[in-house]
Amino acid sequence: MNTHANHPPLVVYGAGGHGTVVADAAELSGLTLLGFLDDREQATLAPADQLLSQNDPNLAGACFIPAIGDNDARAAVMQKIEQLGGKVVNVVHPTAAVSPRATLGHGVYVGPQAVINAHATVGDGCIINSSAIVEHHCTLGDFAHLAPGAALGGGVTIGDRTLIGLGAKVLPRLSVGSHCVVGSGAVVTRNFDDGLLLMGVPAVAQRA
Ligand SMILES: CC(C)(COP(=O)(O)OP(=O)(O)OC[C@H]1O[C@@H](n2cnc3c(N)ncnc32)[C@H](O)[C@@H]1OP(=O)(O)O)[C@@H](O)C(=O)NCCC(=O)NCCS
Repeated sequence: MNTHANHPPLVVYGAGGHGTVVADAAELSGLTLLGFLDDREQATLAPADQLLSQNDPNLAGACFIPAIGDNDARAAVMQKIEQLGGKVVNVVHPTAAVSPRATLGHGVYVGPQAVINAHATVGDGCIINSSAIVEHHCTLGDFAHLAPGAALGGGVTIGDRTLIGLGAKVLPRLSVGSHCVVGSGAVVTRNFDDGLLLMGVPAVAQRA
């Protein structure tokens, strides 16, 4: 298990389902969890989990990860943290396999059993969710999200804020633009531009 003896305590920004998953991964990787922040007054937390106030003095010495599934909301939260001078870190589950030859931005979450292979580049604020696969030489833009079980073949390019849905696949060397949604179970067999909803096998654009 990784240990982070010199790491400041972590604040997970987002107290919903994804936030609790990120908190689990953080603790299992040896980080100390300070608690959760959330803009909603009624955040869905287990009773034992601590929901911090935005004014908590402990936040000054903490580091942060944005943990909201929606790509635009996650980007907004990360911008807010950084504008306030907060340090944003990555959380990598100890069972994930991340190549030492891969490059990760910051604010990245990598879930259990996920794989990021050699020479892949993962942008800031990305989610590589449970059992998702980023093959060698892939490039993901900022705030992209690979849902659980999604897989990218070697050399694939995914644009900023694109969601690759549950179990969807992108064949090697193809590209999907930014701000796209690839529906659950789809198989992308050709290149697609920005801003599209893609569904089916083979995936076709349903609407912008
Ligand atoms: C593709 C998707 C974005 C469509 O969402 P939507 O626009 O709200 O679509 P709806 O649920 O209204 O369904 C519209 C139609 O598409 C069909 N459909 C929905 N998702 C589909 C999918 N992934 N593949 C094929 N058909 C799908 C529905 O059955 C429905 O068909 P009908 O009109 O014949 O009844 C969504 O279903 C999806 O797959 N999202 C990804 C979810 C995900 O992986 N999230 C990450 C979790 S960590």
